[in-house]
Amino acid sequence: MTSSTRILLLSLILSASAQAEVNFSEHIAPIVFNNCATCHREGQIAPFALTDYASVKKHAKQMVEVTGDRTMPPWHADPGFIEYANDRSLSKDQIALFSDWLAAGTPEGDPAKLPALPVIPEGWQLGKPSQIVTMPEPFTVPAEGNDIYRKFVMPLNLDHDTWVSGVEFHPGDPKVVHHILYYLDSTGKGRQADAADPSPGFGGNGPSNGEMRYIGGWDVGSQPNLLPHGLRWFVPKGSDLVVQIHYHPNGKETTDQSSVGFYYSEEPTARPWSIIPVPPHFGMLQGIEIDAGEKEHIEKATFTIPTDCEAFAVNAHAHYLGKRMEMTATLPDGTTHWMLKTSNWDFQWQEDYTFKQPIKLPAGTRLDVTLSYDNSAENPRNPTHPPKRVIWGTSTTDEMGVITIQVMFNTKEQKDTTHQALRDFLANQMIDRLLEGKESIMDLVGGRRGKSAAKALEAARLPLLALDLDHDGKLTPEERIPAIAFIMAGPFMKNLGAIGFD
Ligand code: HEC
Repeated sequence: MTSSTRILLLSLILSASAQAEVNFSEHIAPIVFNNCATCHREGQIAPFALTDYASVKKHAKQMVEVTGDRTMPPWHADPGFIEYANDRSLSKDQIALFSDWLAAGTPEGDPAKLPALPVIPEGWQLGKPSQIVTMPEPFTVPAEGNDIYRKFVMPLNLDHDTWVSGVEFHPGDPKVVHHILYYLDSTGKGRQADAADPSPGFGGNGPSNGEMRYIGGWDVGSQPNLLPHGLRWFVPKGSDLVVQIHYHPNGKETTDQSSVGFYYSEEPTARPWSIIPVPPHFGMLQGIEIDAGEKEHIEKATFTIPTDCEAFAVNAHAHYLGKRMEMTATLPDGTTHWMLKTSNWDFQWQEDYTFKQPIKLPAGTRLDVTLSYDNSAENPRNPTHPPKRVIWGTSTTDEMGVITIQVMFNTKEQKDTTHQALRDFLANQMIDRLLEGKESIMDLVGGRRGKSAAKALEAARLPLLALDLDHDGKLTPEERIPAIAFIMAGPFMKNLGAIGFD
């Protein structure tokens, strides 16, 4: 071998090993800037910035751990089952690069090859809103105590009907605002209740949720998005926005004055659309009762969709004991699709998972939901020590559970038929719970626990028991027909409110 060939060979080997060596500028920065820096930058939700070589190098070891066990980036759908458009999780190869980089001694590489940090617009992520409304006064959230659910009225002063293509929420103090629900109130009852309550907003009084139009919500950690596929929410003129905010005191007294940006549209919705929650109403009538210490409590629910529709997104909701959240769709031809599969539910990270392609669900598609709860002392997220028996309720130390798909229809009749089937589902659950006489539905039938609740429960049970002709404690499909009519005519279904979007 001549010396010049040797030099050539040597330099080839050197450049090959330089290429193989994982460095910041070429390999790590593209991942971190795209998949981490949305939150890990100044003024955002994450505790430190990951926006340059020095800051990323400082956290290199920790990053290997949190990417390796998939706690970061936060994304709770199990990998490999469903393709979501907003998936921010890393591939196996990307995860391996972090440990290779650490093993190589976290070299910087050639700074000239560093990609630009994506620019995130300041303020409103969806651009300048058509209208911004803010809570008229700050609300004081105490240092300690129970979770607070409070409604705030924000007049929109619209003199004509309109459509909304998106809503963006800005929490006043992101450390205590857990999630919110948006309603439109055309009754004026929200304003009255606000005026009658001396503190900002109002608590239990005022219009029921069913008297208002539900138009979605926002959860901790979710990014704002315009509605997809040309869909719109309808906003009747003169309606007020009522925002129900769920506050979770965090040890320090603070005030919150949140804002909402509205993005209006001249165009009406491209298609009728709504939600299919399984079980409906956050599992209120599911009869959830979890024993103290129970390691894996399972709840199941099944709903058959009566009409054709297309699902475009899915989300789940439970509180701190929730663990496994799964929904499959079994089509009439027998094929089964995963809609959501998470083995590691996390209350802190609730978001809409948007399907890469809308999924066609023909009439007769069966949705099967499995929810599991861990009420043992070993569950690090269990808010109660030692664990207590937990039933359905709205406080974060109670439990609930639902998986909801967002669906588009071709006609309004399809949507109405689906809403009616969901109401029947609830009526059937109400019948089952009344026959069981479970404590967990006392609040619903009686308004309050105690003697009056027990009386109301008994009063509602008697006609159902009378329908049970063979006295086996269950109703046959035929016996259910008048039972459902009885439940539908009673106050219960009305109190539960609307079931989907108008
Ligand atoms: C959607 C927002 C978001 C994204 C994207 C994100 N993080 Fe985080 N990260 C957070 C928040 C919030 C915390 C604080 C921990 C918590 O409250 O759960 C955190 C904490 C961390 C921590 C500290 C963990 C600990 O135990 O203290 C590391 C390390 C980290 N993130 C790395 C990353 C890396 C690496 C990426 C990208 C591959 C990433 N994060 C993407 C929001 C995010």
